[in-house]
Amino acid sequence: MEFYNENCFDRLKKLPNNSINLVVSDPPYAISFDASPHMKNSDWDKMSKKEYIELITNYLTECKRVLTSNGSAWIFFGPSMLLELIEAVKNSGMYIHFDQWKSICRQKGRGAQNKFKSQREDFILVTKHPTNFVLNNIDDLFNYKENITNILNYYSGEVERPPFKFSDTIYNFKMPYYLSKTEKQIHSCQKSILLLYALIMNSSQKGDTVFDGFAGSGSCAIASQLAERNFIGCELESDMYEKAQNWISKFDYDNYKKNYLKITTWFGRLHSGKKA
Ligand SMILES: C[S@@+](CC[C@H](N)C(=O)[O-])C[C@H]1O[C@@H](n2cnc3c(N)ncnc32)[C@H](O)[C@@H]1O
Repeated sequence: MEFYNENCFDRLKKLPNNSINLVVSDPPYAISFDASPHMKNSDWDKMSKKEYIELITNYLTECKRVLTSNGSAWIFFGPSMLLELIEAVKNSGMYIHFDQWKSICRQKGRGAQNKFKSQREDFILVTKHPTNFVLNNIDDLFNYKENITNILNYYSGEVERPPFKFSDTIYNFKMPYYLSKTEKQIHSCQKSILLLYALIMNSSQKGDTVFDGFAGSGSCAIASQLAERNFIGCELESDMYEKAQNWISKFDYDNYKKNYLKITTWFGRLHSGKKA
């Protein structure tokens, strides 16, 4: 595992062509999100639409260079910046897959004046080649019927709440904010390890290398380790980098694998390598 307190663009310059199999990244959404109280410098999300397009264009252009010919990227974004994201993907020469556009539902939603609250955070598949990319087709494994048992067990206190699917595109993943025994919140935008793990399992193979230039809490580093992938990542802010390092090194990987990754048959199947 390689994790740097560095600007991701400096790290990307040092990476050789065709050396990364999968990018999983949650860059700034450019919605002026205030990341305090978890970060000293919490302004990194403040930028204009033009700056966002530039950031994502430059990031994906570099990602395209370092990705293998069948490599891909899962990119998180705020739905209000969809048009800007599309423009950036086009500028980079990568391909965007609208049929692989998914959303996580945040139960609480985020406030907005004179609007309905936004309950979604989106992520979409972007690939280097239009048709040749890894997708292990394990998407429909958030099977409601199978999970209902686990949900009942969750309410009886026997297991932690499993992820489940509302529809083909909307997932209710436990966000770290909702008290988990294993995932504490150290970053305001922290993503669920389970979700990142699912994306990694879907879009790469064992032993591959995953890159995350906007690593935040280090959740993707932990998910990569659980999925037995190599990881290269960066976090710019030193205080967050320290916290992330600490979490990554103290994380109880064996316990998580044993007690959490296998709570659904979905993960059981993933581990046994069988297709749905
Ligand atoms: C949306 S957060 C990522 C949260 C992460 N997905 C998690 O689960 O914790 C984006 C992070 O990228 C960092 N960042 C912003 N610009 C960066 C850059 N150029 N290079 C490296 N990190 C950067 C910010 O400090 C912030 O922590």
